This record gives sequence, structure tokens and C-alpha cells, in this order.
Amino acid sequence: NSLSISPTTALQSPLQIFVRAKKRINDIYGEVELYVGDSCKFLLGLPKDSDLITKEELTVVDSHGEKVKGIREVLSRDHMKVAFFGRTSNGKSTVINSMLRERILPSGIGHTTNCFIQVEGSENGESYLISEDSADRKNVKSVSQLAHSLCTGSLGDSSLVRVYWPTDKCPLLRDDVVLVDSPGIDVSPNLDSWIDRHCLDADVFVLVANSESTLMLTEKNFFFKVSARLSKPNVFVLNNRWDASASEPEFLEEVRRQHLLRTVDFLVDELKVCATRTEAEQRVFFVSAKEVLQARINEFKGLPINTGVVADGFHGRYFEFQDFERKFEECISKSAVRTKFNQHTKRGKAIVGDTRNVMEVLLERASTKRAAKSQSRREVLDHLDFTEKQLQLVTVEMKDKICKMVEEVEHKVSKALND
Ligand code: GTP
Ligand code: MG
Repeated sequence: NSLSISPTTALQSPLQIFVRAKKRINDIYGEVELYVGDSCKFLLGLPKDSDLITKEELTVVDSHGEKVKGIREVLSRDHMKVAFFGRTSNGKSTVINSMLRERILPSGIGHTTNCFIQVEGSENGESYLISEDSADRKNVKSVSQLAHSLCTGSLGDSSLVRVYWPTDKCPLLRDDVVLVDSPGIDVSPNLDSWIDRHCLDADVFVLVANSESTLMLTEKNFFFKVSARLSKPNVFVLNNRWDASASEPEFLEEVRRQHLLRTVDFLVDELKVCATRTEAEQRVFFVSAKEVLQARINEFKGLPINTGVVADGFHGRYFEFQDFERKFEECISKSAVRTKFNQHTKRGKAIVGDTRNVMEVLLERASTKRAAKSQSRREVLDHLDFTEKQLQLVTVEMKDKICKMVEEVEHKVSKALND
């Protein structure tokens, strides 16, 4: 019963680091959009002949408005991407199905997956697929229908089919994780184009190895190519089909030690993606995807998780799969926040900084202009003041003169009269 408690309930899931960061950065960009929009509207409203702003400055703010819109669109599509690789039939599709808790991807003996299949959450609760050779949405009701759609397509092994799946049963899809399944790396000569097309934006890689054999050169070579293109990719190694070890218990510990040693050597010394052996040991797991998938399907139906015949050591393997999921979730959400949002944060800061610079220059020019205007107004007032005083003076002088003249005339007239 303790096993039936999901390790990834929404509240405690480390994926929430990414989900919350995405919401936060989206909110901040909403504010940036308002700020840039308001600034642009203000600048456009200035009188044409005001000389307060240059055309170039206006273009800077205007183009930032477009950029912010673009970034918001990219942000809304940002997700955490994990890509699974390994030789044919190692169980890549089964591992993905176990993580999704449902049989979504076709799996089986022989070479099953023949192109890249990206599973992501569908926003409307429907299940459908979109392939590269057509713009149509094809409805998918069942796995066999999906398998049929994938087989009938004329797609090459590098092409991508996007499967959109309802998120209600799959916490990973609800939390913005997309999972990419690939054909076996041993059956394709197109590995370079695979890396170009599907690996450069992946946050985590899972190498699904076969614990019944050992890590193969084709698998190692593929990851050497990946790490040549990406600096320090996050790589997890699943030694799948570990249930087979139950049939040879006397060799179990020995085989496990051997696999672990080789895989850690590969991650630390050859691929150099882990700094220490202890760090690398946290990236290697011994699991049985087939058992986990069956257990989770049972759990969903309300049945005990280990009905029927289960090999010895089932609980240990199941726990180890859960441990893998936990470490994987921590790694992918931190890595995606760093790689995806760091860039957006830098660009957001630059946009706000540029807009602020333009507004500050505008403010400075407006203040200088106002100071100059009030200076000239003061000069005019002073001048008026002076003129007024002059006028007053003139008026007083004139009055005196006139009085004197009148007096003189009066004097002259009275003298004449007297004479
Ligand atoms: P391709 O798509 O052909 O490259 O193969 P794949 O790596 O996707 O393997 P797939 O998931 O189709 O599994 C191949 C077969 O192995 C299927 O029949 C699975 O049921 C079986 N299988 C997968 N995982 C396990 C496991 O852990 N233990 C055992 N015993 N069988 C497994
Ligand atoms: Mg497959």
C-alpha cells in the first residue's frame, strides 16, 4: 500500500520549481509589457515639433513592445524536455509509458518506434497527433490506433510526430514536461541530424540501457556526439530489464557492481558530464519499466500493484524507479529554469533598461527646456518691471514739467494782465 502513494503529487513535486518560475516570469513580463506599452503611447503622444525625442529613440521603445510580445509567446510554450535514447528493444517506450502511468506509446519486441515521438499535454483534454508531413490533427483514441498512424506515415526516422495527450492521468504532462521517444540508435545512420533536430533544446537525456547485456559502443558514441554539441548535458542511465536478474540471484550483486562501475566510468571519465563518482552514482538506476508500468496500470484500476507473477525483488526495483523519477524531476526543473529563463531574464532587464534610458533622457530634456523657458520669462518680467518704473519716473517728471509750465504760463498771464 505504501507503494501506491504517488511520489509526484502536485504539491511536493520538484517540477513545481519550474512551474512556479514560469508563472512568475510570465507575470513579470506582463508588467514589462504594460510599462513598455505605456511608455510608447506617451512618446507617440508628444507634440510633433517638441524636439524632445528623436526618431531613433522612439523606434527603440516601439520595437521593444514587439519583442516583449514575442518573448511572452515563447514563454507560454516553454517546457521541460526529456529525450530517451538507447538501442532497439531496450525498453525506451516502456519507460516513457511507466512515467506517464499509461500505455500511450506503442512498444513491443522487434524494432517498434520508427520516428521521433514527442508526448505533451493537450490543452483541451483530447488526444490527437500532428505529424510533420501534414498540418492536420489526427484524433487518437487508442494505442493501437496511434501505432497504426505512426506505421502508415511516410516519415523518415529523424522526423517528429507530436502526440497530445490529456493531462488528468499524467502529472508529468500537467507540469509542462514533454517526453521524446526515439528509434533505436543502432538502426539509424542519421544520428547527426537527430542531434541537430531533437537534442539541442533537451534539458535531460535518459539513456535506456539493457542490464541483460552491457553499455554498448553505439550508445556511448551517440552520447559523445551529444556532449560535443551541448556543454555538460544532464544524462541519466537506466539499466532496464533488471527483473531478469531475479532469475540469477547468485550473480545479481556482482552484475550490478560491474554495470555500475562501467556506467560511472562512462559518465565521469569518458563523457565527463559528472564531476565525481558519487555524483555519477546518483544518475544510475537499476529498474524494470515493464513491472512499473503494469503496477501503475493496476493501481489506476484500483487493483493491488503486484497482481500475478512477479519476480523477486520487485519492491526494490519499484522503489528505485521512483527514486529515479524524483532525481530526474529535480534535475530537469532546475536545469530548465536555468537555461530557459536565464536568457529571458537578461533580455527583459535589457528591454526595461533601454526604455528607462529613453524616458530619462526625455525627462532631462524636458527639465532643461522648462528651466530655459522660465529663465526667459523672468527676463521678460524684469524688463517689464524696468519699463514700468521708467514710465512712472517719466510720468512724474512730465507732471512736474507740466506743472512748472502751467505755473510759468499762469505767472506770465497774470503779469501781462497786471501790466
Ligand atoms: P524500439 O522502439 O524498437 O527501439 O524499442 P524500445 O526501446 O522502445 O522498447 P520497447 O519499450 O518497445 O520494449 C521492447 C520489449 O521489451 C517489449 O516487449 C517490452 O514489454 C519489453 N520490456 C520493456 N521493458 C522491460 C523490462 O524492464 N523487463 C522486461 N522483462 N521486459 C521489458
Ligand atoms: Mg520504442
